[in-house]
Amino acid sequence: MHREMAKGVYYIGVDDHHTKLFENLWELPFGVSYNSYLIVDEKIALVETVKGPWSSEWIENIREIVDPSKIDYIILNHMEPDHTSSLPDIARIAKNATMVYTSKASDMQKSFYDVPLKEKIVEDLEEISLGGKTLKFVHAPFLHWPETMFTYIAEDQILMSCDAFGAFGALNGRHFDDEIDLDLVEMESRRYLSAIITSYFKFVQKAIARAKDLGIGLKMIAPSHGPIYREHPMWIVEKYDEWTRPELEKHCTIVYGTMYGYTHRLAMKLKKELVDMGVDVRVHNVSYSEMSKILVDSVRAGVLVVGTPTYDAFPFPKVWAFVNEVKGKRFPANVIGLFGTYGWGGGGVRKLKEMFEEMRCEVLEPVIRVKARPTDDEERQVKLLASDIAKRLK
Ligand SMILES: Cc1cc2nc3c(=O)[nH]c(=O)nc-3n(C[C@H](O)[C@H](O)[C@H](O)COP(=O)(O)O)c2cc1C
Ligand SMILES: [Fe+2]
Ligand SMILES: [Fe+2]
Repeated sequence: MHREMAKGVYYIGVDDHHTKLFENLWELPFGVSYNSYLIVDEKIALVETVKGPWSSEWIENIREIVDPSKIDYIILNHMEPDHTSSLPDIARIAKNATMVYTSKASDMQKSFYDVPLKEKIVEDLEEISLGGKTLKFVHAPFLHWPETMFTYIAEDQILMSCDAFGAFGALNGRHFDDEIDLDLVEMESRRYLSAIITSYFKFVQKAIARAKDLGIGLKMIAPSHGPIYREHPMWIVEKYDEWTRPELEKHCTIVYGTMYGYTHRLAMKLKKELVDMGVDVRVHNVSYSEMSKILVDSVRAGVLVVGTPTYDAFPFPKVWAFVNEVKGKRFPANVIGLFGTYGWGGGGVRKLKEMFEEMRCEVLEPVIRVKARPTDDEERQVKLLASDIAKRLK
């Protein structure tokens, strides 16, 4: 199946309803799409491939429009295998094609696949003419790997932005923003952004500023996952802009783990105090909430509170995994509250405190450590922590 986006420009991507976890980490309740585009002019250019298991479906999509052996250029904006693992298959058919990518991508291509095609390394803002249409390549490092670029069709003002402005969710024949439920797209794009691109928020901001500087017209944003934005191309850009700003949001997110409910009781007491003080609170139990949803509420939380029981002298494993995400993804959130319970020697909260101090976060006082069930004094501490949090969010 294919869709015409503009004269000679086609969507030829595929839906994945099969993969349970993207990167084997992030849930895909609505599937995901691997978008690929075909530009048919005097020369024929393919933009991106798709994930390997979908290659025959995708090559059929190409065949509906042109003979794939006639492809002149294979443009690879990003080398991650969700966009490139069909490259060896198309390379066996489009034997005369030239791969177009950045020098870093060239290096990666050789280490991933080493296909026997010609290559053309493009510099930032370099152009290729296809006859009537001009392709301009805009280097976009770390969106989402170091080698990434965008491809812009100047005459049609279509920006193929790869992972940037992407969303989870299969398209099911509704390829455009004016055909699809935007509330679902909003949820799935934010979950995608928080799971995949949190470490690179700065680069999203840079890319948006750069696009403004270049003054390029944008009639369509065509990412490599999720819908194509043609009715309101700036909608997704504005969302990404808002979601990646360095300023923190005015809410408190409590992320906690519990085995037998003592840490849960502390979490609920803290939540109640905060709600009574009028604070916007989000709560996630790490054993129930999916990690990408926890990330959505945590990455820019004005105050992030983490609660844990001690488990073999460490934080509860799923809390520890979350805190390692905070570290690896270099969250903007940096004001931290901590609480937890233990049975004898403790260590869970202590390890969390060390970890956050190492990350140069501000850890709010009091840090609440309770031996099993809270006493009156510890309940007072919860109130103190809550009022400090409320003050921070004013
Ligand atoms: C598998 C397991 C390992 C534990 N390891 C420790 C430990 O190393 N040190 C400690 O002080 N308490 C340890 N505890 C006790 C718990 O930290 C304590 O009971 C805590 O209050 C449980 O909180 P929860 O009810 O929220 O699960 C452990 C408990 C369990 C079930
Ligand atoms: Fe990627
Ligand atoms: Fe991707």
